[in-house]
Amino acid sequence: MELPPRPTPFDFHGVSMTKYFTDNWDNIQDFKARPDDILIATYPKAGTTWVSYILDLLYFGHTCPDRLSSIPLHERVPFLEISVPSLPTGKDLADQLSTTPRLIKTHLPIQFVPRSFWEQSSRIVCVARNAKDTAVSYFHFGRMNHVQPEPGDWSSFLQKFMDGKMVFGSWYDHVNGWWKRKQTYPKLHYIFYEDLIEDTGGEIDRLCSFLGLSPSAEEKEKVSAGVTFDSMKRNQMTNFSTVKMMDLTVSPFMRKGKVGDWKNHFTVSQNEHFDEDYKQKMKNPALHFRTEV
Ligand code: A3P
Repeated sequence: MELPPRPTPFDFHGVSMTKYFTDNWDNIQDFKARPDDILIATYPKAGTTWVSYILDLLYFGHTCPDRLSSIPLHERVPFLEISVPSLPTGKDLADQLSTTPRLIKTHLPIQFVPRSFWEQSSRIVCVARNAKDTAVSYFHFGRMNHVQPEPGDWSSFLQKFMDGKMVFGSWYDHVNGWWKRKQTYPKLHYIFYEDLIEDTGGEIDRLCSFLGLSPSAEEKEKVSAGVTFDSMKRNQMTNFSTVKMMDLTVSPFMRKGKVGDWKNHFTVSQNEHFDEDYKQKMKNPALHFRTEV
C-alpha cells in the first residue's frame, strides 16, 4: 500500500480537522448506534488504545481467544471517523462488527458525535490525560504517523497545541466539552490516564461497575496482566506494527507510557508560558489533571 500524503489541517465548523476525518462526514453523522454499543471517546493520545484493550479483554478475552491472536485491536475497536484511501472506513468496520457489545472509538469533540449515540443512550467511556503529556505524546505520534500533519519542531508544535490547532481541535475545549456532558448524561464514565497508571486494578473495578460486569478474580487477573505497557508493546495486535501508515522506527506507538515525560521536553520557559496560558483556559476547578503521580 502506498502511504497516504500528509494532510493539511483546516477549519471545520470551528475545529481544526483533516480530510482523513471529515471525508466520510455524512455517513459518520448517519451512523446507527445501538443501545448496547460502547463508545470510547478521547482526545488523541489519552490512552485510547489502552482502554480499548481493557474493554475488549473484559468482554471477549475469555470467550474468543482466537480473536486476540489474529485480529488487530484497531479492527476489533474501529475508529469511527477515519477514512483513508484504500482502507475500509471506520464507519464500515463499525457497521460490520458482529460482536455484542460493539466497541467503537472516536476522537470527535462532543458537538460532532453522531446523534444516534445520544438517542440510543449508548454507554460512553471517556479517557483524558493531562495536557503536557498529551502534547508530548501527540508530537511523537505526528512524527511517525503519515495520517497526521507534519508536526514541525517541538516548540512550534507546542504553540499550535496551545492555540488549539491540533487535529481534533483544542485539547482544552475537548476535555471540557466531554466533562460538561458527564454532568447530565449518566451513561458516561470518565477515566483519567494518570489514575489508570497509578491504580490500574482499581480503575478496572470502577469501569466494571459502570458496565455492570463482574469478572472472576482469575479473569480480572488475566486482563490486568494483558494490559500492562510491556505486554501491549510486545503484542503485535496492540502495538500497531500491522499498520502501514505508522513508521515505528521513527517512534514506537507504545512509546513510554508514563506520567511526567513532559519534563524531558518542556524548557523552563515553555513550562511557565504553558502554565500561564493553561490557567486562562481551564477555569473549572472540578476538572483537575495531575501532571505527576
Ligand atoms: P506515550 O506516547 O506517552 O508513550 P492513544 O492510544 O490515545 O493514542 O494513546 C497513546 C499513549 O498511551 C502513548 O503514550 C502510549 O504509550 C500510552 N499507552 C498505551 N498503552 C498503555 C499502557 N498499557 N500503559 C501505559 N500507557 C499506555
